Amino acid sequence: MPARELRFPEGFLWGAATSAHQVEGDNTRNDWWAWEQAGRVKHRSGLACDHYRRFKEDFDLAASLGHTTHRLSVEWSRIEPEPGRFDDGALAHYAEVLDALRARRLEPIVTLHHFTNPLWVAQAGSWTNPKVVDWFARFTERVVRALGGKARYWVTINEPMVYVNTAYLEGRWPPGLRSVPAAQRVTEHLIRAHAAAYHIVHDAAAGAAQPPQVSIAKYLPVFLPCRRWWPLHRVASALSDRLFNGGFLEAVTEGRWAVPGVWPKRIPEARGTLDYFGVNFYRRHFIRNGWHPAQWLGSGCEQTHHWGSRRDLTSWMGWEVYPQAFYQTLTRWQRLGLPFLITENGTSMVDDARRWRFIVDHLEALHRAIEAGCRVLGYTYWSLMDNFEWAHGFAPRFGLVEVDYKTQQRRVRESGRRYAEVCRTGRLVVE
Ligand code: FCB
Repeated sequence: MPARELRFPEGFLWGAATSAHQVEGDNTRNDWWAWEQAGRVKHRSGLACDHYRRFKEDFDLAASLGHTTHRLSVEWSRIEPEPGRFDDGALAHYAEVLDALRARRLEPIVTLHHFTNPLWVAQAGSWTNPKVVDWFARFTERVVRALGGKARYWVTINEPMVYVNTAYLEGRWPPGLRSVPAAQRVTEHLIRAHAAAYHIVHDAAAGAAQPPQVSIAKYLPVFLPCRRWWPLHRVASALSDRLFNGGFLEAVTEGRWAVPGVWPKRIPEARGTLDYFGVNFYRRHFIRNGWHPAQWLGSGCEQTHHWGSRRDLTSWMGWEVYPQAFYQTLTRWQRLGLPFLITENGTSMVDDARRWRFIVDHLEALHRAIEAGCRVLGYTYWSLMDNFEWAHGFAPRFGLVEVDYKTQQRRVRESGRRYAEVCRTGRLVVE
């Protein structure tokens, strides 16, 4: 096929994403740090990318790569190390971070919660405790007071359902629960906390020339049955889709949380609480039923025997590459009538040429979705640089920029350079 040039819309935001615990280093007061110290995972985040101190150099790099936006998260446990005691130094730090982005013409996208909680929240039962809604609201209020004028794009909660699933159903992340009732409670609290934060950000900006844009970052996978024609797998996959995707999205758009197994609830304050739709996309998920009660309704099959899967194209994480699903999921959720912002998409391919292929194929799918009528505001690749990948530690490398953890040196990968061309021109050449 001859090379084609795809043009993205005028003003499209191009950049990359990170999260506090994964890059900052020394986040000693949150539940993940404690989890690492307790040996619940093999690796410790330690100094990570030392980004808490090196953010200016890192933003210099992002700007030199043509980025026009950057997504990051603020660390709750730094800002509120004890209940109700706020650390002005930490707030001043994040103010400096946002100023540094603006000075480099990088539009900040600020996430308030990206998987980690202060220790005091964890000790009080984490998100199973209904008080967490007020705690999160108080934290948001303080952050918005300190940083509100400096950011327009906000993400309240990163991947709420991934958090529920991994931390309260699979028990792989803190607090390590495997309980359906806990997962249901936590989901409701996340919906309420998101809604509270949405209104706080808006109220604080009342009368502003440019109203803030607030969303969640929703992991939006396509669910499929592990064995295509096996009725139980088909039911489990439909149910997963309902619980994980449809149920949550209905709650934050219509204010109605109605999922199987939970008495339908009205959560009126959550109605209409997405200004744009933040989407994280990585792969398809194949669902089967597991033996543990927490898996009866369905659990992911991590093997590579599924139809359409290219085994040679699985990443370090064992994730398949299937860009068509990106197109499918976007066009399917176009029905919400919201502009999309791709808040994460990326790969841990060991071979950097394959990372570039992944990016090209996903941008092409994104472009097709735009042609099919999806409005898309921007794309932030996960991640700007290699970082601490939760339970997998430092082995998977998602970065456009390689990090040498011994010396903290950064080296731009070829994929980062090629992506820079797209960022600078708004055009992608597909060969
Ligand atoms: C997403 C997370 C992000 C990172 C990527 C690989 O689920 O939001 O922190 O771990 O996966």
